[in-house]
Amino acid sequence: MVKIAPSILSADFAKLGEEILDVEKGGADYIHIDVMDGHFVPNITIGPLIVEAIRPITKLPLDVHLMIENPDHYVEAFAKAGSDYITVHVEACRHLHRTIQHIKSFGVKAGVVLNPATPVESIQHIIGDIDMVLLMSVNPGFGGQKFIPEVLPKIRKVKEMADQKGLTIEIEIDGGVNPETAKPCIEAGANVLVAGSAIYNEKDRTKAISLIRG
Ligand code: DX5
Ligand code: ZN
Repeated sequence: MVKIAPSILSADFAKLGEEILDVEKGGADYIHIDVMDGHFVPNITIGPLIVEAIRPITKLPLDVHLMIENPDHYVEAFAKAGSDYITVHVEACRHLHRTIQHIKSFGVKAGVVLNPATPVESIQHIIGDIDMVLLMSVNPGFGGQKFIPEVLPKIRKVKEMADQKGLTIEIEIDGGVNPETAKPCIEAGANVLVAGSAIYNEKDRTKAISLIRG
């Protein structure tokens, strides 16, 4: 069964609690939280304080996507705030293996994110140590962008890499996911789909979630 991770980036921040409960009722599997620092990406969003505030209001796992420079400096704060998954960009980590171990040392699941132009070979030697691979299907920084179809062969390659090594790993897609673009992602082997605007721009979130799940 494909999991759906609504991205709160497209939610109404003035009523964030209600917006989260709405997708939880609507069948969401994870809550995707986009953390941006204005350096790694040209936008600033959410810090550990918000994650801490969200934690008690939902039972769903919090999937925290760090789009920040020097993620090592903030892993502890996001872990203690109640993250269930912390994913870091391979492009932002000088010592990726160390960062992954650092995340896991707090009992948090660890994942690696690849930008659209980053080849999947960059995770070949770390895939056995991680719980999730997140493939970006837009350039990170903003919600509501157009899906980049060149991610599809990357999904297939990651799935192959995982299967060859006998690993059960989450393969998550993020950016421009809607009911149409979700389909080829699922066929290629993705099992977690992030969607921001395709869920939060719709009135009926339950319907939006089930249409994306297919
Ligand atoms: C982009 C973020 C995404 C974004 C997805 O930098 O990582 O999670 O919120 O938004 P949509 O689904 O609108 O492309
Ligand atoms: Zn994201």
